[in-house]
Amino acid sequence: MRAELIDGKAIAEAIRLEVAADVAALAGRGVVPGLTVVLVGDDAASATYVGAKEKASKAAGMRGETLRLPASTTQAELLALVERLNADAGVHGILVQMPLPPHIDPDTVIRHIRPEKDVDGFHPVNVGKLLIGHTDGFVSCTPAGVIELLIRSGVETRGAEAVIVGRSNIVGKPMAALLVQGRAGGDATVTVCHSRTRDLAVHTKRADILIAAIGRAEMITGDMIKPGAVVIDVGMNTKPDASKIKGTRLCGDVHFESAAEVASKITPVPGGVGPMTIAMLLRNTVRAAERTVLVTAR
Ligand code: GUN
Repeated sequence: MRAELIDGKAIAEAIRLEVAADVAALAGRGVVPGLTVVLVGDDAASATYVGAKEKASKAAGMRGETLRLPASTTQAELLALVERLNADAGVHGILVQMPLPPHIDPDTVIRHIRPEKDVDGFHPVNVGKLLIGHTDGFVSCTPAGVIELLIRSGVETRGAEAVIVGRSNIVGKPMAALLVQGRAGGDATVTVCHSRTRDLAVHTKRADILIAAIGRAEMITGDMIKPGAVVIDVGMNTKPDASKIKGTRLCGDVHFESAAEVASKITPVPGGVGPMTIAMLLRNTVRAAERTVLVTAR
């Protein structure tokens, strides 16, 4: 392996310490940031993610709570809960965990969350602000975390060829919007590839910064990467592994061993982008709380 590892765990920890300091400063002004996570149904992976979010928010000194609702919850009931949280001054951030049961429309739920409390950055108002380059909205946590990884690892994005594989609303599209902005962590020339892209490798081989967010295990192999490129793996997949008790292990969208022979820097899975998502959620929540102080002081 010749690539240097980008240690997402260590960078996320540094951000969590910064957030804890911001929380302490807010406490001096009588404000405790509050994050409420709503989980509908009993999807095992979602329950794990939600537990981690609550634990991290409490560790940072925030008021973290999780509201667990049965899978039979109606859309009207969920919207009524969101309205109640919108009106609760002690709740600064609202996160409705996805995926929702099939009888609930996620877009309708997201549109009901007040943009000022949408710490996921999924509301159309926040997505629009990101695209325009306004910095008073909230940015989706995973792409915001990728930018922090790049900046804090000393990766120059200005003028770089950045290629994103994946066009999801949560990662691919906001990632492109961030990388193209004219500021730190931006100024890149951005290409977005997807399932209809002709000859994917032609594009990935041009990338100085390659971001894989496709959701397909180990799809990006070393021969698709330009020597010296920085490779960011957003994937969280499982693959068979007989040596594990569960019979599977976590892997990314990048075939790590072959990619690490070619890249100059690379994120591992786990321990790369994953820990950054929660760190950025905490940062968004503390910002949401700070903005309420600013508004009241005006
Ligand atoms: N499900 C998986 N990741 C996320 C996330 O970042 N936010 C929400 N709300 N649901 C998710």
